[in-house]
Amino acid sequence: MQTRMRTLIAANWKMHKNVAETRAFFDAFLPLVAGLPTQVEIAVAPPFTALSAAAQCCSDEPRIALAAQNMHWSAQGAYTGEISLSMLADFGVGYVIVGHSERREYFDETDHTVNLKVQAALGHGVTPIIAVGETLAERDAGITLDRVVSQTQHALQDIDAEQASRVVFAYEPIWAIGSGRSCDPLEADAVMGAIRDAVDGLQAIPILYGGSVKAENIAAYMGQPNIGGGLVGGASLDPHAFAALIRNAAL
Ligand code: PGA
Repeated sequence: MQTRMRTLIAANWKMHKNVAETRAFFDAFLPLVAGLPTQVEIAVAPPFTALSAAAQCCSDEPRIALAAQNMHWSAQGAYTGEISLSMLADFGVGYVIVGHSERREYFDETDHTVNLKVQAALGHGVTPIIAVGETLAERDAGITLDRVVSQTQHALQDIDAEQASRVVFAYEPIWAIGSGRSCDPLEADAVMGAIRDAVDGLQAIPILYGGSVKAENIAAYMGQPNIGGGLVGGASLDPHAFAALIRNAAL
């Protein structure tokens, strides 16, 4: 059995919250942080436009790490609309979500670009949270493990075991995202075991479950040996709901 290194709960705000809404979130959330279990790491991924405000709000709260929702792998260049790692460094971003299914589906993210982003993030000392997961059709066809193992191996192509040990994975069954239909914790744990075994170096990394996680169901996931936290969309938008979820992750 693997050693659990740490527990991470990461908020993925997606395309929600402008600067004023971001400040309002932290005004309510920061007073709650002192009451949250210290063994749970907290990361928040606001939209790019709110990273500056989020960084200001959290400047006296070392327990909250900032995350980006996406990035470009190049240092700079003629890539209209893109954001580089050195730009993210301005805000002290420690994590970046890579390969979220919404980016794969709507913005043509591929296994190849995921791999380029993972290599670039690791090169800058930013921890990639690599999202993998199967569609409902793939699940119904019985190819969940093939799909997820393939995404995992492609994401870490040309990355050695030492570097691989510094990533975080998020297993997010696509049919469970934003649907209110969460994956059975035992099934999620089995898929995460396959992710761990897919590449050398993943034995002790946190693997987050994502897909309709909320305060009411997080404890059932955390009870599984391979599950090291959650990547939380809808339930991270409300400060009280998110705090309750973090509290329950340590039960
Ligand atoms: P959800 O989103 O919690 O709203 O299902 C999770 C995610 O997409 O990361």
